[in-house]
Amino acid sequence: MTITFEVIHKDIAGRVGKLRVNDKTVRTPALLPVVNPHLPLVTPREMQEMGVEALITNAYIFRRSEAYRDRAIAEGLHGVLDFDGVIMTDSGSFQLSVYGEVEVSNQDTLEFQQAIGSDIVVPLDIPTPPDAGRERAERELAVTMERIREAQALFPDANLVGPVQGGIFPDLREEAGRAVQDLGFAFAPIGAVVPLMENYRYRELVEVVLAAKRGLSPATAVHLFGAGHPSMFALAVAMGCDLFDSAAYALFAREGRYITPHGSLKIDELAELPCPCRVCRSMTADELRKADDRERLLALHNLHVTLAEIARIRQAIQDGTLWELVDERCRSHPRLLDGYRELLAHAAELERDDPVSKRRFFYRGSETCRRTEVLRFHEVVGRIPVGERVLVSFDGKAVPGFDTLLNFKPPFGPYPVELAETFPVGQSEVPGWDDEMVRSGCAGIRSLMEAHPESRFAIRCDPVWARLVLEEVPGAEVLHEQV
Ligand code: GUN
Ligand code: ZN
Repeated sequence: MTITFEVIHKDIAGRVGKLRVNDKTVRTPALLPVVNPHLPLVTPREMQEMGVEALITNAYIFRRSEAYRDRAIAEGLHGVLDFDGVIMTDSGSFQLSVYGEVEVSNQDTLEFQQAIGSDIVVPLDIPTPPDAGRERAERELAVTMERIREAQALFPDANLVGPVQGGIFPDLREEAGRAVQDLGFAFAPIGAVVPLMENYRYRELVEVVLAAKRGLSPATAVHLFGAGHPSMFALAVAMGCDLFDSAAYALFAREGRYITPHGSLKIDELAELPCPCRVCRSMTADELRKADDRERLLALHNLHVTLAEIARIRQAIQDGTLWELVDERCRSHPRLLDGYRELLAHAAELERDDPVSKRRFFYRGSETCRRTEVLRFHEVVGRIPVGERVLVSFDGKAVPGFDTLLNFKPPFGPYPVELAETFPVGQSEVPGWDDEMVRSGCAGIRSLMEAHPESRFAIRCDPVWARLVLEEVPGAEVLHEQV
């Protein structure tokens, strides 16, 4: 196998990396547009000119079309599609999930994918739908794993990937991830998530993806099969997904829907085209609506927006601002917010991958209090050396009689003045304090107190915080009258 993955930058569990497939390189996170040879709305050549380095097409569709089958075998996929980048082929498993059965065996599809010169070959995994019970999910996972092993035994030199299934059961997903990892894959797609995304079940999506990631090695490139709308890419990347394949640009165009990074709009309801792409700057909304090639123009716009979002995510990872982007995108829909909150509930496991220092930290609302950086601060604050009598001063002012003076910055908590310029205290921008922030900062004080049970703690604060501080930090003396 000659698929390798190199991680270059990290933020949360997201990464910018390089996927090398044979002699070609794909920058990740990457979007692989879905190409249907029967519906050539945007040509692969045009995609390549838009910066697409990899695409995905369905081997099952090629195999079932007489004209395309023979040409693909004779000329190869890259010739037929006129695309020099990486071409991944899917096996027909998606059709399996939609129609219940496919007229192809695992061995047949694997042979065919190689015969047409696919760069990335997918076995015939079974996408277990979310409503399947545990027994069915287990049974189908066993078949999927059997087919993956069969694929490796039959084609040891192929660029195979190992799909991760397991339905909506996190323990099965984790087990599946570990089993795929044990077979040595450098590339693992997570399957059967399309119905979750289509029904806005983002909380469960986060559960199953994080479970699969627990089983997989951090060194493995993770593809999210059939994802999705660009508004969820940031969330998925934050969990450690590196590749997406999406037909949304074309499916939405067919339905007259105009994609934006935070949702889709019906073209019939648009008075303006609020986007910098070539299509949107060359015509009015009315002209687009009435254009003969409206579907193609919409597809071009949709693809442009989707690719721009991926570029924005790669930039955010390098800037260390992925949390801010996730926060912004996940406020586009209340169910995405559910997914975001589920992600934050797993901050402790995400914290292990998250870089210890970033360029900046912007407070964006109460969810920010549960970010990895805050959690980590609360964990390490106990290492601050203190004396017998400690003053945590909300306004930085000293009071006689204390041998240790600590400043306070919510949502983090107490810190010695020498750390004022270090991350996250020094690089964080916070608005006027509110209860949520101060409560989070008090959790930092509690951690410090737990680490130093022999010391006595006092907190100097404005009277407006006194009651909250008394509640949040039992055992500390509150010096608000002296303020
Ligand atoms: N496309 C969307 N979901 C899936 C999946 O679970 N497996 C495969 N092979 N392709 C998909
Ligand atoms: Zn546009």
